Amino acid sequence: RFLDSLHRHLSSPGTAILKREEPPAGSAEPGLQEKSNNKTFSEVQKERREQAQRSILISCPKKVPEKKLLKHLCQHGEITNHFFFESFGIHAVIEFSKKESIASLQDATFIPRGETEFPIPFKSRFFHLNLKNPSNQTSDGMLVQCSNQSSPLNADLIQTLCNAESVEGQIITLMRTLQITEENIRLRYLSCSLIEDIAAAYFPSCTIKPFGSSVNSFGKLGCDLDMFLDLDDIGKNSATKTAGPFLMEYQVKSVPSERWATQKILAVIGECLDNFGPGCVSVQKILHARCPLVRFSHQASGFQCDLTANNRIAMKSSELLYIYGSLDSRVRALVFSVRCWARQHALTSSIPGAWLTNFSLTIMVIFFLQKRSPPVLPSLDYLKNLADARDKCIIEGNDCTFVSNLDRIKPSENTETLDILLCQFFEYFGNFSFNKNSINIRKGKEQNKPDSSPVYIQNPFEPALNISRNVNESQLERFVHLARESAWILQEDKGRSSKSSSHPWGLAALLQPSVSNKSKAKKPGRGPTGEAVRKLLESIKADSSKHSAATREE
Ligand code: GTP
Ligand code: MG
Repeated sequence: RFLDSLHRHLSSPGTAILKREEPPAGSAEPGLQEKSNNKTFSEVQKERREQAQRSILISCPKKVPEKKLLKHLCQHGEITNHFFFESFGIHAVIEFSKKESIASLQDATFIPRGETEFPIPFKSRFFHLNLKNPSNQTSDGMLVQCSNQSSPLNADLIQTLCNAESVEGQIITLMRTLQITEENIRLRYLSCSLIEDIAAAYFPSCTIKPFGSSVNSFGKLGCDLDMFLDLDDIGKNSATKTAGPFLMEYQVKSVPSERWATQKILAVIGECLDNFGPGCVSVQKILHARCPLVRFSHQASGFQCDLTANNRIAMKSSELLYIYGSLDSRVRALVFSVRCWARQHALTSSIPGAWLTNFSLTIMVIFFLQKRSPPVLPSLDYLKNLADARDKCIIEGNDCTFVSNLDRIKPSENTETLDILLCQFFEYFGNFSFNKNSINIRKGKEQNKPDSSPVYIQNPFEPALNISRNVNESQLERFVHLARESAWILQEDKGRSSKSSSHPWGLAALLQPSVSNKSKAKKPGRGPTGEAVRKLLESIKADSSKHSAATREE
Protein backbone atom coordinates (compact mmCIF):
# COMPACT_ATOMS: atom_id res chain seq x y z
CA ARG A 1 0.00 0.00 0.00
CA PHE A 2 2.85 2.30 0.91
CA LEU A 3 4.72 1.65 -2.36
CA ASP A 4 1.52 2.25 -4.22
CA SER A 5 1.00 5.60 -2.55
CA LEU A 6 4.66 6.52 -3.13
CA HIS A 7 4.24 5.71 -6.79
CA ARG A 8 1.20 7.97 -7.01
CA HIS A 9 3.06 10.67 -5.17
CA LEU A 10 5.89 10.68 -7.69
CA SER A 11 3.49 11.83 -10.33
CA SER A 12 1.93 14.48 -8.13
CA PRO A 13 2.62 14.75 -4.40
CA GLY A 14 -0.24 15.34 -2.07
CA THR A 15 -2.75 14.79 -4.75
CA ALA A 16 -3.16 11.07 -5.38
CA ILE A 17 -4.63 11.71 -8.80
CA LEU A 18 -3.96 10.30 -12.23
CA LYS A 19 -1.71 12.33 -14.48
CA ARG A 20 -3.88 14.49 -16.68
CA GLU A 21 -1.58 14.16 -19.65
CA GLU A 22 -2.39 10.45 -19.79
CA PRO A 23 -6.16 10.27 -20.20
CA PRO A 24 -7.63 6.77 -20.12
CA ALA A 25 -7.62 5.23 -23.61
CA GLY A 26 -10.74 5.99 -25.55
CA SER A 27 -11.98 8.53 -23.04
CA ALA A 28 -14.94 10.51 -24.17
CA GLU A 29 -14.96 14.25 -24.71
CA PRO A 30 -14.24 15.90 -21.34
CA GLY A 31 -17.37 17.20 -19.87
CA LEU A 32 -19.19 14.06 -20.97
CA GLN A 33 -17.25 11.67 -18.78
CA GLU A 34 -19.41 10.40 -15.99
CA LYS A 35 -17.01 8.36 -13.87
CA SER A 36 -14.21 10.27 -12.24
CA ASN A 37 -10.78 8.68 -11.74
CA ASN A 38 -9.35 11.82 -10.21
CA LYS A 39 -9.92 12.76 -6.61
CA THR A 40 -11.19 16.22 -5.88
CA PHE A 41 -9.24 18.53 -3.61
CA SER A 42 -11.67 18.05 -0.74
CA GLU A 43 -11.60 14.26 -1.13
CA VAL A 44 -7.79 14.27 -0.90
CA GLN A 45 -7.93 16.57 2.13
CA LYS A 46 -10.51 14.41 3.86
CA GLU A 47 -8.51 11.23 3.29
CA ARG A 48 -5.26 12.78 4.50
CA ARG A 49 -6.90 14.30 7.57
CA GLU A 50 -8.44 10.99 8.53
CA GLN A 51 -5.04 9.31 8.10
CA ALA A 52 -3.46 11.96 10.36
CA GLN A 53 -6.05 11.36 13.08
CA ARG A 54 -4.89 7.73 13.25
CA SER A 55 -1.24 8.77 13.55
CA ILE A 56 1.12 9.68 16.38
CA LEU A 57 4.51 11.34 16.70
CA ILE A 58 7.26 9.89 18.92
CA SER A 59 10.55 11.47 19.85
CA CYS A 60 13.04 8.60 20.02
CA PRO A 61 16.55 7.97 21.30
CA LYS A 62 19.33 8.15 18.71
CA LYS A 63 19.57 4.40 18.33
CA VAL A 64 16.07 3.00 18.10
CA PRO A 65 15.41 -0.72 18.24
CA GLU A 66 12.95 -0.33 15.36
CA LYS A 67 11.51 -3.85 15.29
CA LYS A 68 11.07 -3.98 19.07
CA LEU A 69 9.38 -0.60 19.02
CA LEU A 70 6.92 -1.66 16.35
CA LYS A 71 6.24 -4.92 18.17
CA HIS A 72 5.65 -2.99 21.38
CA LEU A 73 3.23 -0.57 19.72
CA CYS A 74 1.40 -3.39 17.96
CA GLN A 75 -0.05 -4.34 21.35
CA HIS A 76 -2.37 -1.38 20.87
CA GLY A 77 -3.46 -2.26 17.35
CA GLU A 78 -2.34 -2.81 13.77
CA ILE A 79 0.23 -0.37 12.36
CA THR A 80 -0.33 0.48 8.70
CA ASN A 81 2.63 2.74 8.16
CA HIS A 82 5.65 4.24 9.86
CA PHE A 83 8.74 6.28 9.11
CA PHE A 84 11.55 8.05 10.94
CA PHE A 85 12.90 11.54 10.41
CA GLU A 86 15.26 13.95 12.10
CA SER A 87 14.25 17.28 13.64
CA PHE A 88 16.07 18.13 16.88
CA GLY A 89 16.63 14.38 17.32
CA ILE A 90 15.08 11.28 15.82
CA HIS A 91 11.30 11.15 15.54
CA ALA A 92 8.90 8.48 14.35
CA VAL A 93 5.50 8.84 12.74
CA ILE A 94 3.35 5.78 13.40
CA GLU A 95 0.05 5.33 11.64
CA PHE A 96 -2.38 2.88 13.23
CA SER A 97 -5.20 1.35 11.25
CA LYS A 98 -7.71 2.46 13.91
CA LYS A 99 -8.02 5.60 16.04
CA GLU A 100 -8.87 3.51 19.12
CA SER A 101 -5.28 2.22 19.23
CA ILE A 102 -4.14 5.71 20.20
CA ALA A 103 -6.47 5.83 23.20
CA SER A 104 -5.12 2.46 24.28
CA LEU A 105 -1.52 3.72 23.96
CA GLN A 106 -2.39 6.91 25.86
CA ASP A 107 -3.77 4.79 28.72
CA ALA A 108 -0.43 3.05 28.98
CA THR A 109 1.61 6.27 28.86
CA PHE A 110 2.98 8.22 31.83
CA ILE A 111 3.21 11.93 32.46
CA PRO A 112 6.94 12.40 33.22
CA ARG A 113 8.00 13.39 36.70
CA GLY A 114 10.50 16.22 36.48
CA GLU A 115 13.08 16.73 39.20
CA THR A 116 13.66 20.41 38.75
CA GLU A 117 10.73 21.32 36.51
CA PHE A 118 7.02 20.68 36.79
CA PRO A 119 5.29 19.06 33.80
CA ILE A 120 2.00 20.45 32.50
CA PRO A 121 -0.14 17.31 32.36
CA PHE A 122 -1.41 17.65 28.81
CA LYS A 123 -2.00 14.30 27.11
CA SER A 124 -1.38 14.69 23.41
CA ARG A 125 -0.46 12.37 20.52
CA PHE A 126 3.18 13.42 20.76
CA PHE A 127 5.13 10.95 22.88
CA HIS A 128 8.66 10.48 24.12
CA LEU A 129 10.21 7.02 23.98
CA ASN A 130 12.47 6.03 26.86
CA LEU A 131 14.58 2.91 26.96
CA LYS A 132 14.07 1.19 30.33
CA ASN A 133 17.54 -0.27 30.23
CA PRO A 134 19.55 1.83 27.79
CA SER A 135 22.81 -0.10 28.05
CA ASN A 136 21.12 -3.40 27.02
CA GLN A 137 18.90 -2.03 24.37
CA THR A 138 21.14 0.33 22.46
CA SER A 139 23.21 -2.66 21.41
CA ASP A 140 20.15 -3.99 19.48
CA GLY A 141 19.34 -0.47 18.40
CA MET A 142 20.42 0.64 14.98
CA LEU A 143 20.69 4.03 13.41
CA VAL A 144 17.33 4.01 11.67
CA GLN A 145 16.94 5.21 8.12
CA CYS A 146 15.53 8.71 8.20
CA SER A 147 13.27 10.15 5.55
CA ASN A 148 14.64 13.39 4.19
CA GLN A 149 12.66 16.50 5.15
CA SER A 150 14.82 19.28 3.71
CA SER A 151 15.94 20.58 0.33
CA PRO A 152 19.32 19.51 -1.05
CA LEU A 153 22.23 21.89 -0.82
CA ASN A 154 22.56 24.33 -3.65
CA ALA A 155 25.85 22.98 -4.99
CA ASP A 156 24.49 19.41 -5.05
CA LEU A 157 21.38 20.58 -6.86
CA ILE A 158 23.39 22.43 -9.54
CA GLN A 159 25.55 19.33 -10.06
CA THR A 160 22.50 17.09 -10.38
CA LEU A 161 21.04 19.44 -12.98
CA CYS A 162 24.29 19.53 -14.97
CA ASN A 163 24.11 15.75 -15.27
CA ALA A 164 20.68 15.88 -16.97
CA GLU A 165 20.26 15.29 -20.70
CA SER A 166 18.25 18.35 -21.64
CA VAL A 167 16.72 21.50 -20.18
CA GLU A 168 13.42 19.63 -20.02
CA GLY A 169 15.21 16.87 -18.06
CA GLN A 170 16.66 19.52 -15.76
CA ILE A 171 13.26 21.05 -15.11
CA ILE A 172 11.74 17.67 -14.20
CA THR A 173 14.75 16.74 -12.05
CA LEU A 174 14.48 20.04 -10.20
CA MET A 175 10.82 19.46 -9.44
CA ARG A 176 11.38 15.86 -8.28
CA THR A 177 14.28 16.93 -6.07
CA LEU A 178 12.55 19.88 -4.42
CA GLN A 179 8.93 18.76 -4.12
CA ILE A 180 7.58 17.73 -0.76
CA THR A 181 7.67 13.98 -0.28
CA GLU A 182 4.90 11.58 0.70
CA GLU A 183 6.29 11.45 4.26
CA ASN A 184 6.56 15.23 4.43
CA ILE A 185 2.91 15.55 3.42
CA ARG A 186 1.87 13.06 6.10
CA LEU A 187 3.88 15.01 8.65
CA ARG A 188 2.19 18.27 7.61
CA TYR A 189 -1.30 16.82 8.06
CA LEU A 190 -0.24 15.20 11.34
CA SER A 191 1.11 18.53 12.66
CA CYS A 192 -2.22 20.21 11.84
CA SER A 193 -4.05 17.37 13.53
CA LEU A 194 -1.93 17.72 16.70
CA ILE A 195 -2.67 21.47 16.83
CA GLU A 196 -6.34 20.70 16.20
CA ASP A 197 -6.37 18.60 19.40
CA ILE A 198 -5.26 21.68 21.34
CA ALA A 199 -7.75 24.04 19.67
CA ALA A 200 -10.49 21.44 20.21
CA ALA A 201 -10.12 21.95 23.96
CA TYR A 202 -11.97 25.24 23.37
CA PHE A 203 -13.94 24.44 20.22
CA PRO A 204 -14.66 20.70 20.20
CA SER A 205 -15.75 20.44 16.54
CA CYS A 206 -13.19 22.78 15.02
CA THR A 207 -10.82 21.60 12.30
CA ILE A 208 -7.32 22.74 11.42
CA LYS A 209 -6.56 22.28 7.75
CA PRO A 210 -3.32 22.87 5.91
CA PHE A 211 -3.48 25.31 2.98
CA GLY A 212 -1.00 27.17 0.76
CA SER A 213 1.94 25.32 -0.71
CA SER A 214 1.53 22.31 1.62
CA VAL A 215 -1.56 21.32 -0.38
CA ASN A 216 -1.62 23.34 -3.62
CA SER A 217 0.75 20.86 -5.36
CA PHE A 218 3.59 23.42 -5.55
CA GLY A 219 5.10 22.69 -2.13
CA LYS A 220 8.86 22.56 -1.78
CA LEU A 221 10.67 20.73 1.04
CA GLY A 222 11.18 23.25 3.82
CA CYS A 223 8.23 25.51 2.89
CA ASP A 224 6.17 26.91 5.75
CA LEU A 225 3.03 25.18 7.00
CA ASP A 226 -0.04 27.40 6.57
CA MET A 227 -2.86 26.29 8.88
CA PHE A 228 -6.47 27.33 8.75
CA LEU A 229 -8.62 27.08 11.87
CA ASP A 230 -12.09 26.33 10.57
CA LEU A 231 -14.90 26.99 13.02
CA ASP A 232 -17.63 26.89 10.40
CA ASP A 233 -18.37 23.22 10.88
CA ILE A 234 -19.39 23.94 14.46
CA GLY A 235 -23.14 24.03 14.52
CA LYS A 236 -23.48 22.69 10.98
CA ASN A 237 -25.33 19.64 12.20
CA SER A 238 -27.38 21.44 14.77
CA ALA A 239 -31.09 21.19 14.24
CA THR A 240 -32.37 23.67 11.71
CA LYS A 241 -36.01 22.73 11.95
CA THR A 242 -37.43 22.35 15.40
CA ALA A 243 -40.97 21.42 16.09
CA GLY A 244 -43.06 23.46 18.48
CA PRO A 245 -43.34 27.14 19.24
CA PHE A 246 -39.73 27.69 20.40
CA LEU A 247 -36.34 28.18 18.80
CA MET A 248 -33.43 27.43 21.06
CA GLU A 249 -30.19 29.32 20.55
CA TYR A 250 -26.88 29.09 22.37
CA GLN A 251 -26.22 31.89 24.78
CA VAL A 252 -22.98 33.37 23.41
CA LYS A 253 -20.71 36.33 23.92
CA SER A 254 -20.66 38.72 21.00
CA VAL A 255 -18.06 41.16 19.71
CA PRO A 256 -18.48 44.05 17.25
CA SER A 257 -16.95 42.37 14.16
CA GLU A 258 -15.84 39.06 12.67
CA ARG A 259 -12.24 40.31 12.66
CA TRP A 260 -12.51 41.01 16.36
CA ALA A 261 -13.81 37.49 16.98
CA THR A 262 -10.95 36.01 14.93
CA GLN A 263 -8.42 38.00 16.94
CA LYS A 264 -9.90 36.87 20.24
CA ILE A 265 -9.97 33.22 19.20
CA LEU A 266 -6.42 33.27 17.84
CA ALA A 267 -5.21 35.07 20.96
CA VAL A 268 -6.39 32.27 23.27
CA ILE A 269 -5.23 29.50 20.99
CA GLY A 270 -1.84 31.21 20.66
CA GLU A 271 -1.65 31.40 24.44
CA CYS A 272 -2.59 27.75 24.72
CA LEU A 273 0.06 26.67 22.19
CA ASP A 274 2.64 28.70 24.05
CA ASN A 275 1.77 27.29 27.47
CA PHE A 276 0.65 23.73 26.80
CA GLY A 277 1.51 22.82 23.21
CA PRO A 278 4.12 20.04 23.24
CA GLY A 279 6.83 20.87 20.70
CA CYS A 280 5.45 24.38 19.97
CA VAL A 281 8.06 27.11 20.50
CA SER A 282 8.61 30.78 19.59
CA VAL A 283 4.89 31.53 19.55
CA GLN A 284 4.15 35.01 18.18
CA LYS A 285 0.64 36.45 18.04
CA ILE A 286 0.43 38.76 15.02
CA LEU A 287 -3.15 39.81 15.49
CA HIS A 288 -3.15 43.26 13.90
CA ALA A 289 -2.05 42.13 10.44
CA ARG A 290 -4.65 42.28 7.63
CA CYS A 291 -4.98 38.56 8.12
CA PRO A 292 -4.43 37.96 11.88
CA LEU A 293 -2.25 34.95 12.62
CA VAL A 294 -0.32 33.01 15.23
CA ARG A 295 3.18 32.14 14.04
CA PHE A 296 5.12 29.41 15.80
CA SER A 297 7.70 26.80 15.26
CA HIS A 298 6.57 23.21 15.59
CA GLN A 299 9.95 21.99 16.68
CA ALA A 300 8.98 18.35 16.67
CA SER A 301 8.25 18.34 12.95
CA GLY A 302 10.59 21.18 12.03
CA PHE A 303 7.82 23.28 10.45
CA GLN A 304 7.44 27.01 10.68
CA CYS A 305 3.66 27.37 11.10
CA ASP A 306 1.26 30.23 10.39
CA LEU A 307 -2.12 29.62 11.99
CA THR A 308 -4.96 31.77 10.65
CA ALA A 309 -8.71 31.65 11.09
CA ASN A 310 -11.56 32.94 9.01
CA ASN A 311 -9.40 32.72 5.88
CA ARG A 312 -11.66 30.78 3.53
CA ILE A 313 -10.61 32.64 0.41
CA ALA A 314 -6.98 31.56 0.88
CA MET A 315 -8.21 27.99 1.22
CA LYS A 316 -10.17 28.35 -2.02
CA SER A 317 -7.09 29.86 -3.73
CA SER A 318 -5.12 26.79 -2.66
CA GLU A 319 -7.76 24.58 -4.25
CA LEU A 320 -7.66 26.62 -7.45
CA LEU A 321 -3.87 26.30 -7.67
CA TYR A 322 -4.23 22.58 -6.98
CA ILE A 323 -6.65 22.27 -9.92
CA TYR A 324 -4.31 24.20 -12.23
CA GLY A 325 -1.30 22.19 -10.99
CA SER A 326 -3.11 18.92 -11.66
CA LEU A 327 -4.46 19.71 -15.12
CA ASP A 328 -1.21 19.37 -17.02
CA SER A 329 2.12 17.99 -15.79
CA ARG A 330 4.00 20.94 -17.31
CA VAL A 331 2.40 23.40 -14.88
CA ARG A 332 4.04 22.12 -11.71
CA ALA A 333 7.38 21.63 -13.43
CA LEU A 334 7.37 25.21 -14.69
CA VAL A 335 6.21 26.70 -11.39
CA PHE A 336 8.96 24.88 -9.48
CA SER A 337 11.61 26.21 -11.89
CA VAL A 338 10.34 29.78 -11.77
CA ARG A 339 9.95 29.80 -7.97
CA CYS A 340 13.43 28.32 -7.51
CA TRP A 341 14.93 30.80 -10.01
CA ALA A 342 13.26 33.71 -8.20
CA ARG A 343 14.49 32.54 -4.79
CA GLN A 344 18.05 32.08 -6.02
CA HIS A 345 18.11 35.69 -7.22
CA ALA A 346 16.43 37.05 -4.09
CA LEU A 347 13.39 38.12 -6.12
CA THR A 348 11.35 36.37 -3.40
CA SER A 349 12.15 36.15 0.28
CA SER A 350 10.85 34.54 3.43
CA ILE A 351 10.71 38.04 4.96
CA PRO A 352 7.69 40.17 3.95
CA GLY A 353 8.64 43.20 1.87
CA ALA A 354 8.46 44.84 -1.53
CA TRP A 355 9.20 41.62 -3.41
CA LEU A 356 7.07 39.26 -5.40
CA THR A 357 5.62 36.36 -3.42
CA ASN A 358 5.51 32.73 -4.48
CA PHE A 359 1.74 33.11 -4.75
CA SER A 360 2.08 36.01 -7.22
CA LEU A 361 4.73 34.16 -9.23
CA THR A 362 2.49 31.11 -9.49
CA ILE A 363 -0.37 33.24 -10.77
CA MET A 364 2.03 34.74 -13.33
CA VAL A 365 2.98 31.26 -14.59
CA ILE A 366 -0.71 30.30 -14.82
CA PHE A 367 -1.45 33.49 -16.74
CA PHE A 368 1.45 32.87 -19.13
CA LEU A 369 0.17 29.33 -19.77
CA GLN A 370 -3.33 30.71 -20.46
CA LYS A 371 -1.80 33.04 -23.05
CA ARG A 372 -0.06 30.34 -25.12
CA SER A 373 -1.56 29.45 -28.43
CA PRO A 374 -3.27 27.03 -28.08
CA PRO A 375 -3.57 27.66 -24.33
CA VAL A 376 -2.02 25.20 -21.89
CA LEU A 377 -4.47 26.25 -19.17
CA PRO A 378 -8.08 27.51 -19.28
CA SER A 379 -9.27 30.76 -17.75
CA LEU A 380 -10.92 30.83 -14.33
CA ASP A 381 -14.18 31.89 -16.00
CA TYR A 382 -14.06 28.68 -18.07
CA LEU A 383 -13.60 26.65 -14.85
CA LYS A 384 -16.53 28.52 -13.34
CA ASN A 385 -18.76 27.68 -16.28
CA LEU A 386 -18.02 23.97 -15.84
CA ALA A 387 -19.04 24.03 -12.17
CA ASP A 388 -22.12 22.17 -10.99
CA ALA A 389 -24.50 23.02 -8.15
CA ARG A 390 -22.25 21.37 -5.52
CA ASP A 391 -19.32 23.57 -6.54
CA LYS A 392 -21.19 26.80 -5.83
CA CYS A 393 -19.21 28.84 -3.35
CA ILE A 394 -19.73 32.43 -2.23
CA ILE A 395 -17.34 33.79 0.39
CA GLU A 396 -17.93 37.23 1.89
CA GLY A 397 -19.95 38.19 -1.17
CA ASN A 398 -17.26 37.01 -3.62
CA ASP A 399 -18.12 34.34 -6.14
CA CYS A 400 -15.46 31.64 -5.68
CA THR A 401 -17.23 29.01 -7.75
CA PHE A 402 -15.22 26.74 -10.06
CA VAL A 403 -15.37 23.12 -11.11
CA SER A 404 -13.90 20.61 -8.65
CA ASN A 405 -14.10 17.54 -10.89
CA LEU A 406 -10.94 17.50 -13.01
CA ASP A 407 -12.49 15.09 -15.52
CA ARG A 408 -14.84 17.77 -16.74
CA ILE A 409 -11.97 19.94 -17.95
CA LYS A 410 -10.86 19.48 -21.54
CA PRO A 411 -7.12 18.63 -21.78
CA SER A 412 -4.94 21.15 -23.59
CA GLU A 413 -4.06 20.77 -27.24
CA ASN A 414 -0.80 22.61 -26.70
CA THR A 415 2.23 20.34 -27.19
CA GLU A 416 5.08 22.77 -26.45
CA THR A 417 8.01 21.30 -24.53
CA LEU A 418 9.11 22.52 -21.13
CA ASP A 419 12.34 24.07 -22.44
CA ILE A 420 10.37 26.17 -24.90
CA LEU A 421 7.85 27.15 -22.25
CA LEU A 422 10.50 28.14 -19.70
CA CYS A 423 12.37 30.27 -22.23
CA GLN A 424 9.10 31.81 -23.45
CA PHE A 425 8.03 32.59 -19.88
CA PHE A 426 11.13 34.74 -19.41
CA GLU A 427 10.71 36.27 -22.86
CA TYR A 428 7.03 37.04 -22.17
CA PHE A 429 7.53 38.73 -18.82
CA GLY A 430 10.80 40.33 -19.91
CA ASN A 431 8.66 42.28 -22.39
CA PHE A 432 5.31 42.54 -20.60
CA SER A 433 3.77 46.02 -20.46
CA PHE A 434 3.63 46.20 -16.67
CA ASN A 435 3.11 49.96 -16.93
CA LYS A 436 -0.16 49.57 -18.89
CA ASN A 437 -1.55 46.11 -18.24
CA SER A 438 -2.75 44.01 -15.36
CA ILE A 439 -2.61 40.21 -15.12
CA ASN A 440 -6.02 38.61 -14.88
CA ILE A 441 -6.31 34.81 -14.72
CA ARG A 442 -10.10 34.99 -14.45
CA LYS A 443 -10.28 36.20 -18.05
CA GLY A 444 -6.94 34.71 -19.16
CA LYS A 445 -6.24 38.10 -20.71
CA GLU A 446 -4.34 41.21 -19.75
CA GLN A 447 -6.45 44.26 -18.97
CA ASN A 448 -5.87 47.95 -18.43
CA LYS A 449 -4.32 48.61 -15.06
CA PRO A 450 -6.84 50.23 -12.70
CA ASP A 451 -4.15 52.03 -10.67
CA SER A 452 -0.50 52.96 -10.80
CA SER A 453 1.00 50.05 -8.79
CA PRO A 454 4.16 48.86 -10.57
CA VAL A 455 2.74 45.32 -10.86
CA TYR A 456 -0.98 44.63 -10.93
CA ILE A 457 -2.12 41.02 -10.53
CA GLN A 458 -5.82 40.82 -9.96
CA ASN A 459 -6.83 38.68 -7.00
CA PRO A 460 -8.77 35.79 -8.62
CA PHE A 461 -11.55 35.92 -6.03
CA GLU A 462 -11.55 39.53 -4.86
CA PRO A 463 -11.43 41.40 -8.17
CA ALA A 464 -10.91 44.81 -6.59
CA LEU A 465 -7.64 43.70 -4.99
CA ASN A 466 -4.11 43.48 -6.34
CA ILE A 467 -2.13 40.56 -4.92
CA SER A 468 1.18 42.23 -5.83
CA ARG A 469 0.42 45.68 -4.48
CA ASN A 470 3.49 45.45 -2.26
CA VAL A 471 5.93 45.15 -5.19
CA ASN A 472 7.86 48.35 -5.80
CA GLU A 473 9.41 49.73 -9.00
CA SER A 474 12.93 48.57 -8.26
CA GLN A 475 11.85 45.00 -7.56
CA LEU A 476 9.91 44.97 -10.81
CA GLU A 477 12.98 46.26 -12.64
CA ARG A 478 15.10 43.48 -11.17
CA PHE A 479 12.52 40.90 -12.18
CA VAL A 480 12.32 42.17 -15.75
CA HIS A 481 16.07 42.45 -16.06
CA LEU A 482 16.66 38.91 -14.77
CA ALA A 483 13.86 37.52 -16.94
CA ARG A 484 15.50 39.01 -20.07
CA GLU A 485 18.90 37.72 -19.02
CA SER A 486 17.53 34.26 -18.42
CA ALA A 487 15.70 34.10 -21.76
CA TRP A 488 18.94 35.14 -23.40
CA ILE A 489 20.99 32.45 -21.58
CA LEU A 490 18.52 29.71 -22.52
CA GLN A 491 18.48 30.80 -26.15
CA GLU A 492 22.25 30.94 -26.27
CA ASP A 493 22.42 27.44 -24.77
CA LYS A 494 20.07 26.06 -27.41
CA GLY A 495 22.74 26.40 -30.08
CA ARG A 496 25.28 24.52 -27.99
CA SER A 497 25.60 20.86 -28.92
CA SER A 498 27.62 19.45 -26.01
CA LYS A 499 26.29 19.65 -22.49
CA SER A 500 28.92 19.87 -19.82
CA SER A 501 28.53 18.15 -16.48
CA SER A 502 31.09 20.47 -14.88
CA HIS A 503 30.08 23.85 -16.32
CA PRO A 504 26.51 24.94 -15.48
CA TRP A 505 24.24 25.06 -18.53
CA GLY A 506 20.52 25.48 -19.14
CA LEU A 507 18.48 25.71 -15.96
CA ALA A 508 21.65 25.21 -13.85
CA ALA A 509 23.12 28.35 -15.43
CA LEU A 510 19.95 30.31 -14.58
CA LEU A 511 20.30 29.34 -10.94
CA GLN A 512 23.87 30.59 -10.71
CA PRO A 513 24.28 33.76 -8.67
CA SER A 514 26.53 35.01 -11.46
CA VAL A 515 23.65 35.45 -13.90
CA SER A 516 23.61 39.24 -13.51
CA ASN A 517 27.43 39.43 -13.44
CA LYS A 518 27.47 37.74 -16.83
CA SER A 519 25.28 40.48 -18.19
CA LYS A 520 27.56 43.03 -16.64
CA ALA A 521 30.44 41.60 -18.61
CA LYS A 522 28.46 41.60 -21.84
CA LYS A 523 26.38 44.72 -21.46
CA PRO A 524 28.24 47.25 -19.40
CA GLY A 525 26.06 49.61 -17.45
CA ARG A 526 23.12 47.19 -17.28
CA GLY A 527 22.47 46.36 -13.65
CA PRO A 528 25.87 45.87 -11.97
CA THR A 529 25.68 43.94 -8.72
CA GLY A 530 26.53 46.92 -6.52
CA GLU A 531 23.65 48.79 -8.11
CA ALA A 532 21.31 45.86 -7.52
CA VAL A 533 22.29 45.72 -3.85
CA ARG A 534 21.80 49.49 -3.52
CA LYS A 535 18.32 49.21 -5.06
CA LEU A 536 17.48 46.31 -2.83
CA LEU A 537 18.46 48.26 0.27
CA GLU A 538 16.46 51.23 -0.96
CA SER A 539 13.40 49.13 -1.49
CA ILE A 540 13.70 47.60 1.98
CA LYS A 541 13.98 51.07 3.51
CA ALA A 542 11.09 52.44 1.50
CA ASP A 543 8.78 49.63 2.39
CA SER A 544 9.72 48.59 5.87
CA SER A 545 7.42 51.20 7.30
CA LYS A 546 4.54 50.16 5.07
CA HIS A 547 4.64 46.43 5.65
CA SER A 548 4.34 44.85 9.02
CA ALA A 549 5.23 41.20 9.38
CA ALA A 550 2.81 38.84 7.72
CA THR A 551 0.67 41.59 6.19
CA ARG A 552 -0.99 40.32 3.07
CA GLU A 553 -0.40 42.41 -0.01
CA GLU A 554 -3.81 43.91 -0.37
P1 GTP B 1 5.29 29.47 0.14
O1 GTP B 1 6.06 30.71 -0.13
O2 GTP B 1 5.97 28.24 -0.37
O3 GTP B 1 4.87 29.36 1.56
O4 GTP B 1 3.99 29.59 -0.78
P2 GTP B 1 2.47 29.70 -0.35
O5 GTP B 1 1.65 29.54 -1.59
O6 GTP B 1 2.17 28.77 0.77
O7 GTP B 1 2.37 31.20 0.12
P3 GTP B 1 2.11 31.84 1.57
O8 GTP B 1 2.56 30.94 2.66
O9 GTP B 1 2.68 33.21 1.51
O10 GTP B 1 0.53 32.00 1.61
C1 GTP B 1 -0.33 30.89 1.80
C2 GTP B 1 -1.55 31.04 0.94
O11 GTP B 1 -2.22 32.26 1.29
C3 GTP B 1 -1.29 31.14 -0.56
O12 GTP B 1 -1.14 29.90 -1.19
C4 GTP B 1 -2.51 31.88 -1.01
O13 GTP B 1 -3.59 31.01 -1.13
C5 GTP B 1 -2.77 32.84 0.14
N1 GTP B 1 -2.09 34.13 -0.11
C6 GTP B 1 -0.80 34.42 0.06
N2 GTP B 1 -0.55 35.69 -0.29
C7 GTP B 1 -1.71 36.20 -0.67
C8 GTP B 1 -2.12 37.47 -1.14
O14 GTP B 1 -1.35 38.40 -1.29
N3 GTP B 1 -3.42 37.63 -1.43
C9 GTP B 1 -4.30 36.62 -1.29
N4 GTP B 1 -5.56 36.82 -1.59
N5 GTP B 1 -3.96 35.41 -0.85
C10 GTP B 1 -2.70 35.20 -0.56
MG1 MG C 1 3.11 28.93 2.63
